Amino acid sequence: MERLSMSGISKRFGGIHALSDVSFSAQGGEVHALMGENGAGKSTLMKVLSGAYDHEGGEIRIDGNRASIHSPHEGMKLGVSIIYQEFSLASHMTVAENILMHELGEKFSINYRELNRRAARLLDEMGFSDIDPRSTVSDLTVAYQQVVEICKALSHECKILVLDEPTAVLTNHETEKLFRLVRKLRDQGVCVIYISHRLDEIFDLCNRVTILKDGSTVGTWDTNTLDHDSLTNLMIGRELTDFFPERNAKIGAVALEVQSLRSGSMVSDVSFSVRRGEVLGIGGLVGAGRTEALRAIFGADKRDGGTVTLHGQEVHNRTAGEGVRNRIGLLPEDRKHQGVLLDLPIRDNALMTPVNPFISVTGWINQASERDKVQELWKELRLKAASQDANVSTLSGGNQQKVALMKWLVAHCDVLLLDEPTRGVDVGAKVEIYRVINQLAEQGAAIVMVSSEMIELIGMCDRVMVMRGGRMAGTLEGDAIREENIIELAMGQDNVH
Ligand SMILES: Nc1ncnc2c1ncn2[C@@H]1O[C@H](COP(=O)(O)OP(=O)(O)OP(=O)(O)O)[C@@H](O)[C@H]1O
Ligand SMILES: [Mg+2]
Repeated sequence: MERLSMSGISKRFGGIHALSDVSFSAQGGEVHALMGENGAGKSTLMKVLSGAYDHEGGEIRIDGNRASIHSPHEGMKLGVSIIYQEFSLASHMTVAENILMHELGEKFSINYRELNRRAARLLDEMGFSDIDPRSTVSDLTVAYQQVVEICKALSHECKILVLDEPTAVLTNHETEKLFRLVRKLRDQGVCVIYISHRLDEIFDLCNRVTILKDGSTVGTWDTNTLDHDSLTNLMIGRELTDFFPERNAKIGAVALEVQSLRSGSMVSDVSFSVRRGEVLGIGGLVGAGRTEALRAIFGADKRDGGTVTLHGQEVHNRTAGEGVRNRIGLLPEDRKHQGVLLDLPIRDNALMTPVNPFISVTGWINQASERDKVQELWKELRLKAASQDANVSTLSGGNQQKVALMKWLVAHCDVLLLDEPTRGVDVGAKVEIYRVINQLAEQGAAIVMVSSEMIELIGMCDRVMVMRGGRMAGTLEGDAIREENIIELAMGQDNVH
């Protein structure tokens, strides 16, 4: 018997049919992938299952029994646990409080020592004993926050575990730990539903895959009957020929030079330079200081030492505004908090560039050109949304990421710092983003790209700098840009597990 069977599920948001008559079923003891392009309806379907969204029509059965799930509490009581694509932690509370939050409300007095002890045990079982249950969530890296989310979901009886892009914020090492845990749960008979845009993970982890397209079910397949190409084709309806499109950029003079950069506790000594037309990758583990280095260069974080030189002139960006005036752009890692303004329309977000090319010297804004430009990028990036006037908060995760990127494509920056530019983006749109990055490099921009996806570093970068513990561990060039070399530098000799 199926552990979960959903049939005839529909969900509308205003005029948008997010789901129309969707059927989906999965068994206990399997990892079942749910795939599809950005905006296909994956998260919405799982929010219906968890009770976060109500649905119109259809039914949900768990172990054959009709389940009435109209609130997250009802979902939880029936054994549905979900890790949302967007974090749902209370960031001002401690790790232990978050993990065991569902118990806190029921008690008159809380034994904190016991609470911390139990949280520590759960973290330990997951292989993350280095997270202190007493630390405040907002002090953790995004990857560790994700680990806490998963722990929270596993802290109560769970029959169906939904993971909505759990590895988007994890690097290989943490991903392996997570997979070990998922396999363990699968072997214990849990039904795991796994959403990801990383095809390798699907083949690595999942028994079956169900594909959604435009809010409808395309079908379900055994993973071992598919390969990369056929899976891609089923999702986006075409083959992707050149996954990493060719770039014909002329590599010119040094645009950005960073020397002995120090910032906070995460960046202790970083030096590198990047030339016009060049794409420099930065690899490393979570916590290596990559994000923090970019932020300090840009001016979003304080710099404690070292120099930043632009076109031969030393600059000191003390604020993000100064970075922008010096024609540096930063696509932040944390899209939801720093990358987009959720309550504003897509168009305003896309045009929120410090140097709006559509404002003439007289201050007159050419709104028609603005619309055209946004429309052009919309098509290039395969954005899925109701209109340019739709608020960003109504977009799917991957489409929000595309909007965050848009404004840096409108602004003409000399140096573009991209922190995980294709995180959460579907495989078709990834290629479009690579294409746009190539165009920018061809126009003479210097590009620095932090990525946790090996294949992206290998496929896109002229050089790859690997960071470890706030320092540069080494730089790879040409044929030396290989997975094993990146891993070796990222983990260090003393640290290889
Ligand atoms: N709260 C909302 N209000 C309005 N529209 C919404 C809302 N949530 C989702 N949608 C719309 O429903 C559709 C499906 O979105 P959903 O988030 O389920 O996509 P997804 O498959 O999870 O995509 P991604 O891979 O980008 O996360 C999208 O067109 C989205 O814009
Ligand atoms: Mg989603």
